[in-house]
Amino acid sequence: MFDEGKIVIVGASNVGTAVLNKIVDFGLASEVVLIDINEKKCMGESLDTSHATACVGSYNMYIHEGTYEDCKDASMIIITAGPSIKPGETPDRLILTKTNCKIMDSVMSQIVQYTKDAIILVVTNPLDVATYYVSDNFDYPREKIIGTGTLLETFRLRRILADYYHLDPKLVHGYVLGEHGNSGFVAWSTVDIASLGLDNMDEFLNHNYKLNKSMIEQKIMQVVYDVINLKGCTNTGIAMVVCRFIKAIKYNEYTILPMSSILTGEYGIHDVALSLPCMLNNTGIIKRFTPKLTDEEIEKMIASAKSVKSAMEAIEK
Ligand code: LAC
Repeated sequence: MFDEGKIVIVGASNVGTAVLNKIVDFGLASEVVLIDINEKKCMGESLDTSHATACVGSYNMYIHEGTYEDCKDASMIIITAGPSIKPGETPDRLILTKTNCKIMDSVMSQIVQYTKDAIILVVTNPLDVATYYVSDNFDYPREKIIGTGTLLETFRLRRILADYYHLDPKLVHGYVLGEHGNSGFVAWSTVDIASLGLDNMDEFLNHNYKLNKSMIEQKIMQVVYDVINLKGCTNTGIAMVVCRFIKAIKYNEYTILPMSSILTGEYGIHDVALSLPCMLNNTGIIKRFTPKLTDEEIEKMIASAKSVKSAMEAIEK
């Protein structure tokens, strides 16, 4: 359980180190262990970040590089290992399937030697394929394996709509669902702003134009590639997503967030991991919800399942 407050991060590249720094900034653990095949990088990142914990007002956290043996008494294990999409590559996270499922196999084979208790947060892309692979190929409690899923796209939806209407993103509620990737979609039937009705907002704000929902959705799904082409990767947004999950687990929130897990018949879909709203507490996922989607949204969910499943065929057994 979380009271020990030890988190293990597997992968010390752009995402793993951004997660490490956010955990330190928010004080979300008493000990953070960094694991990476590049031991030099691991030691450098751990040492550098450990100095940040000596600042007055910071949390006294033990930050160090480690091995999979550190998973033994970890409350959470965050898997960020594996390459991400690079500038100029095909703009589709699913192209990483073969490479990163091999890496998931190696990482999870090590983890299961030391624990079956820690909550595992999968961050590695293609996220839904990686979440399915880790959940389906190892004897580990499924409710303890969580994929970060479309919470990041949901953050992007909030930010983009808040910019469009010039209001606080925290007033924007609703979900991006399905694949954390190109076939994900905005479930507009779930989106609301300050309980005023999304479709009333242009009128309330005296806009002489209407929200172009397909343009907004396209922007949400495209922006990851814009950021990658601008700075070489994405890491800050996803690191905040990881911290949102850590807080929900650490503080036993019973909150509901979009996250990836293996569907067991929702919308008639089986044997694939996709994002649905799930309730989360310090034991892991305690319930998956099936919002009353429109027929068009259900079709998009089924299409998303097909897209992720077809990528899974590339996994070498
Ligand atoms: C993104 C990566 C984490 O969407 O897939 O930024």
